[in-house]
Amino acid sequence: MKTKIIKANFEKILSEIESLETDTLIILADQKVWELYKEKLPLDQIKDKRIILRTNPSGEDVKTFEEFASCSEFLLDKGVHRKCHIVAFGGGSLSDFAGYIAASLLRGIDWSIIPTTLLSMIDASIGGKTAINSKAGKNLIGAFHKPQNVWLNVDFVDSLPEDELVNGYGELIKYAFLDERISKSLLAKKFDLNEIIFECADFKLNLTEKDFKEAGLRKSLNLGHTLGHALEKIYSLPHGEAVFWGIALALEVFQEGEFLDQLKKYAKKLGIHEKPVPWYKKTFPTEKIIDYVKKDKKMISSSVVEFVLVEKVGKIKYQSVEISELERLLESMKDKLSDFTL
Ligand SMILES: NC(=O)c1ccc[n+]([C@@H]2O[C@H](COP(=O)([O-])OP(=O)(O)OC[C@H]3O[C@@H](n4cnc5c(N)ncnc54)[C@H](O)[C@@H]3O)[C@@H](O)[C@H]2O)c1
Ligand SMILES: [Zn+2]
Repeated sequence: MKTKIIKANFEKILSEIESLETDTLIILADQKVWELYKEKLPLDQIKDKRIILRTNPSGEDVKTFEEFASCSEFLLDKGVHRKCHIVAFGGGSLSDFAGYIAASLLRGIDWSIIPTTLLSMIDASIGGKTAINSKAGKNLIGAFHKPQNVWLNVDFVDSLPEDELVNGYGELIKYAFLDERISKSLLAKKFDLNEIIFECADFKLNLTEKDFKEAGLRKSLNLGHTLGHALEKIYSLPHGEAVFWGIALALEVFQEGEFLDQLKKYAKKLGIHEKPVPWYKKTFPTEKIIDYVKKDKKMISSSVVEFVLVEKVGKIKYQSVEISELERLLESMKDKLSDFTL
């Protein structure tokens, strides 16, 4: 089964859900999103189906064992069967959680997503990875379980706080490097965010269809992520913003600044080109970066990490780097990096 990505306004989302082949809909919504949109998108009023609605803690707080247990017990208590359909309504946290419920409830029932953050529209909703967090780390308990439908509606972006928008922009810029069509759309005079969202989602869908369990192609999606994850932890940055700086740093360190102009063009188009680097006026954190990179899941052996780099727009390349070499490089560039601006 290939996930269907559908551009849909509120009305179309309702009619699509109405026509799902099930007699019971389980709506799992992010509490905050539900309060904001329950009038515009009254999912609890859909006719001719039994509706089980559960609102859940907003954002990352939902991805816990406790919420998983409480939601599963709630649904089992209401009485569910294998042909129910779960609709996840919220950002990436909610869909990761709802997807894991869908994967495990009665050993797996069908589900679809209405993503409401930019990041979830272009990234988290696509590819079938679902997860909750453990004390040992994020996303360590989960399953691969593809949603049937993802309904994209750019209107949700209007109510997003600025931080959440920037969070999505980081990943969007990553896609622009990975795909020429997206790069062109982003730089086009007539900028259409709705179209770009669709193109990013479609790009990720095709990539993940070809490489469902992350053996090869899907690795390209890690552009900016190895250093980005370290920066995210060190400076408590939103993930997408950290990815943006992760791309910038990788280009500076491994490609002598090649494509930084391109990165700046994308950033300018999205209005984030004036953000200061996270280590602005601080010592460049080589040691901490090395510590975090060592813990990264993307290490290919205990001493080698594989970086995703840009060969040209639309084509990436890989470079394996010894941790000791990375440390040496970062240390030798420390002063230059401290003054780094885009
Ligand atoms: N499964 C995957 O492939 C994948 C990929 C990337 C990220 N993720 C996961 O996604 C999660 C992050 O998701 P996210 O960035 O979408 O944020 P989120 O779901 O954590 O939401 C962030 C905040 O925005 C609020 N919000 C959501 N939509 C809103 C709207 N339209 N208007 C106003 N507020 C709104 C939420 O209530 C929350 O407070 C992380 O847990 C990450 O691990 C998963
Ligand atoms: Zn990411």
